[in-house]
Amino acid sequence: MTLDRRVKIAPSILAADFSKLGAEAKAVEAAGADWLHLDIMDGHFVPNISFGPAVVAALRGQVNLFFDVHLMIAPVDRYIADFAKAGANRLTVHIESGPHVYRTLQAVKDAGCQAGITLNPATPAAAIKNVLDEVDLVQVMTVNPGFGGQTLIEGQMEKIREIRAMIGDRPIHLEVDGGVGAANAGTLIKAGADVLVAGSSIFAGGASTYAANITALRNAAQAG
Ligand code: DX5
Ligand code: ZN
Repeated sequence: MTLDRRVKIAPSILAADFSKLGAEAKAVEAAGADWLHLDIMDGHFVPNISFGPAVVAALRGQVNLFFDVHLMIAPVDRYIADFAKAGANRLTVHIESGPHVYRTLQAVKDAGCQAGITLNPATPAAAIKNVLDEVDLVQVMTVNPGFGGQTLIEGQMEKIREIRAMIGDRPIHLEVDGGVGAANAGTLIKAGADVLVAGSSIFAGGASTYAANITALRNAAQAG
């Protein structure tokens, strides 16, 4: 199986204007986003609350973008069906979210979604080794999950390289999430990432800047 490893830009809707989420999603779609990244936070697994399946479903009606849903929730299993029904294309779960993540990934695929695994900054690459063959994407958290607008933790670069080597020829995307901008996009791609999640660096200046922000990110990534 071959995988499209061209760089993908996934704006994180967490950084959008929540009073007009539909318009914001449409604006990044028109501006050239590849995927839409949706951050689900429960105030328990992470110290912040964002939004749930109803908001995902409402956005599903607005855009055709691939929905890359990042679940920062625990427990996960009881919500899989709701997010699948809401229109998620992929559900990415944390390796730290419970003792039975292998089962969770199987349940995600049974629900008809692609499955992703992600790991917190303190979790070593080796922690995901035994679930690699169950996923379509590995996401490396380059900030502490829970909030947008943080600075990328440089120490995670080595983990990106390690995971890229672990993936080898498998058809698995390597996504980076947190503190991504034009200044570090090239280094991240060089380290092995092919998907860049970006919140503040895309949404900060309002809709008139989205196309330029996405292009700047893509150019910086390609220069890497
Ligand atoms: C953080 C989220 C990220 C966040 C990224 O917990 O998983 O997706 O929105 O935001 P920026 O790009 O602003 O770091
Ligand atoms: Zn995220």
